[in-house]
Amino acid sequence: MEKLRMGFIGAGGIAVSRHLPAFQLLNDHVEITAVCDVNEERAQTVANDHSISFYTTKYEEVFQHVDAVTICTPNKFHAEISIAALNAGVHVLCEKPMALTSQECEEMIEASKKADKILMIAYHYRYSKEARAAKRFIDEGEIGRPLVSRAQAIRRRKVPGWGVFTNKELQGGGSLIDFGCHFLDLALHLMEFPEIAEVSGATYNELSRQADIVNQWGTFDPSTFEVDDHATAFIKFKDGATLLFETSWAANLADDQETVSVSGTNGGLDVYPLKLYQSKYGMLLDQSAYWISDDENPGIPQAANFVESCRGRQTPLVKPEEAMMVSKIIEAIYKSSETGKAISFN
Ligand SMILES: NC(=O)c1ccc[n+]([C@@H]2O[C@H](COP(=O)([O-])OP(=O)(O)OC[C@H]3O[C@@H](n4cnc5c(N)ncnc54)[C@H](O)[C@@H]3O)[C@@H](O)[C@H]2O)c1
Repeated sequence: MEKLRMGFIGAGGIAVSRHLPAFQLLNDHVEITAVCDVNEERAQTVANDHSISFYTTKYEEVFQHVDAVTICTPNKFHAEISIAALNAGVHVLCEKPMALTSQECEEMIEASKKADKILMIAYHYRYSKEARAAKRFIDEGEIGRPLVSRAQAIRRRKVPGWGVFTNKELQGGGSLIDFGCHFLDLALHLMEFPEIAEVSGATYNELSRQADIVNQWGTFDPSTFEVDDHATAFIKFKDGATLLFETSWAANLADDQETVSVSGTNGGLDVYPLKLYQSKYGMLLDQSAYWISDDENPGIPQAANFVESCRGRQTPLVKPEEAMMVSKIIEAIYKSSETGKAISFN
């Protein structure tokens, strides 16, 4: 079988640190044939560094050189570029969040169905060994029915100081849409995407206005910080389950907390680090995992799943309809915060 010809649109941090190395490892099956960035120097440098024969500043020019693309631009362009790629008959792996609005997500799904091409969203935490094992425990009935979940995506003083992460127009929001989205997605995946009943949320833009903020991930201008630095939400599902959610880029807390916990009818689990709690003989037993290696790039199984899906030999682990549900909840959290009311999905 001929190699899948891959292109990269948006050649910044995540393209170079996660996606390019992952697809390069699959070089028996993949050839990287094009790269695009609106910054020409960036496109040329990445092309030179990775021996990519074609580079451009116009994403439309990529499509004739590839069978599939990875889209790693600021969030505002995810929908437009994904739809253009799908309309040109090109498979798409799009970075998270899927788009700025759920309306855009719907249009992306429509384009993918019409073109009969893969549309996958890079919620890569689902590919981590811990998340895969946690999902298997739940699928095998090890904790019973998920009842109460908690998703925490909390970073202590780590506002991304590069790119356009604090620009509302280009990113659509801050800690919630950028970082919290991963852990919302993971919690919903473990809970098997139950139907949403109601979302109450609050977002904050206070802390990062402080001129003298200590930040571990580079510098940013507090006077142009337009997005949320904290968000919290309470989500009720139609089957009675609930999810408590917290995210922050700049928490004034002891440490980062990045995990999902699920308490079910017969047991429970934490994902990071992975722990399983099971009700046995009137006791609650704790079990921990022992791994061969702690150091693993989930971008590798993600890239492999995408390539195999383009080949028709697998289906994407992250379905676009699921990524759209994450975007719907994010939208509802922002709306609930703005209006001060719970948002009903009935
Ligand atoms: N999965 C993750 O954990 C993760 C981590 C970081 C970023 N991301 C996502 O990846 C995307 C990019 O983030 P990043 O950290 O690489 O940002 P970045 O700023 O480092 O890179 C973005 C690149 O896109 C280019 N660009 C902007 N508009 C473009 C356009 N219209 N066409 C082509 N190129 C364009 C910029 O010049 C820049 O080089 C964002 O959507 C972000 O949410 C995901």
